[in-house]
Amino acid sequence: MQNFIKVARLDDFHKKNYVCISYRSKWIAVIKAQDGSFYAIEANCKHQNANLLVNGLRGEIVTCPRHGWKYNMRTGECLSESWAHLRKFALKIVDEYIYVATDPREEVMDEWESDETV
Ligand code: FES
Repeated sequence: MQNFIKVARLDDFHKKNYVCISYRSKWIAVIKAQDGSFYAIEANCKHQNANLLVNGLRGEIVTCPRHGWKYNMRTGECLSESWAHLRKFALKIVDEYIYVATDPREEVMDEWESDETV
């Protein structure tokens, strides 16, 4: 059974396309895609843990501010090192709030993606 924490309101995405929270020393980003759906993904660089979104998010590709590794924030793929992959988190929307699972499990993410996007 997944535990979920409340991380954002839908209104938070009127002027920006992501919300980044710190949870147990990790950054988790909730991102609003161009198609209007939401997803949650780890936002710590796999090299030395920098916050990948410290300079914002334009498009799906981000460059780590510390040493330049590139990531696809939609898929989690690292374009600089093939072994480095960002973990996804299950996400659900209840009323006006977005909740994110505290434990990354992609199979749960897939389950929620089909039913819980807006
Ligand atoms: S901390 Fe991100 S590339 Fe080094």
